[in-house]
Amino acid sequence: MFNDRLLQTLRDAQHLVILTGAGVSAESGIPTFRDAMTGLWARYDPQQLASENGFRANPALVWGWYEWRRAKVMQSLPNPAHRAIAQFQPLVPKLTLITQNVDDLHERAGSQFVIHLHGSLHEAQCIACAKPFALNATPTVISESKRVEPPRCPACGDYIRPGVVWFGESLPLDGWHAAEAAAQNCDVLMSIGTSALVYPAASLPLVALTAGAKVIQLNPDKTNLDAKAHFNLHGKAGDLLPALLQAAYAQ
Ligand code: OAD
Repeated sequence: MFNDRLLQTLRDAQHLVILTGAGVSAESGIPTFRDAMTGLWARYDPQQLASENGFRANPALVWGWYEWRRAKVMQSLPNPAHRAIAQFQPLVPKLTLITQNVDDLHERAGSQFVIHLHGSLHEAQCIACAKPFALNATPTVISESKRVEPPRCPACGDYIRPGVVWFGESLPLDGWHAAEAAAQNCDVLMSIGTSALVYPAASLPLVALTAGAKVIQLNPDKTNLDAKAHFNLHGKAGDLLPALLQAAYAQ
């Protein structure tokens, strides 16, 4: 099923970077962003729901939508792709896991030290003074279009906003620097379940390629990275990753 060069590349890896996108959580029932029909950005306007202007224009709509997404994640379970990724950890001398996903399914599958480039649905902060805000353990919203007034900041009284990176905003600096350094210093990078369209995250495989690393891509569809990656595996992450792990490491 997998070619020998691919398996040897994994076995020889000294520093493996795994970069994940929404496709890794798709088999847990979490919608991706850009898949036709089912992707969130096929059904909703990102300017309205993923920008500060959109939030300021309609805070209850935006807060309700993120609480619906948080509830959906909390009701979901890690899938075989998340679990296989966690199983790579003890098999390579060094592993850096970088995700664009705002869910916590990698952590719940057992991965540690996950770099969240786009923030987290499970964190929130004041839109004005950035003070962190503890969310209810259980979100009450079950409908995606239910409007919910956001809480107010106990310190300054402005709105609490979701702890995710919106369009036009910078990535968390520490996470970005760690991700960029890992891409520069790794010898193998796996890009899994991402359309490779959103920068700067999409630059990480290119940074790794320029630094001489081997790049392996897993995605059912073609992306811009196909022409540049050393190996392209077309299929679902939840099918491919457990099989790859078995083929590369089970003796
Ligand atoms: P996209 O929705 O752009 O891409 C998801 C990718 O997953 C597509 O290329 C699909 O072909 C692939 N896919 C679907 N099912 C899969 C499966 N079972 N196994 C493997 N791959 C599968 O999502 P991202 O690339 O993550 O930003 O999008 C990047 C960013 O754009 C997101 O983090 C989000 C969005 O705007 C923020 O929220 C800041």
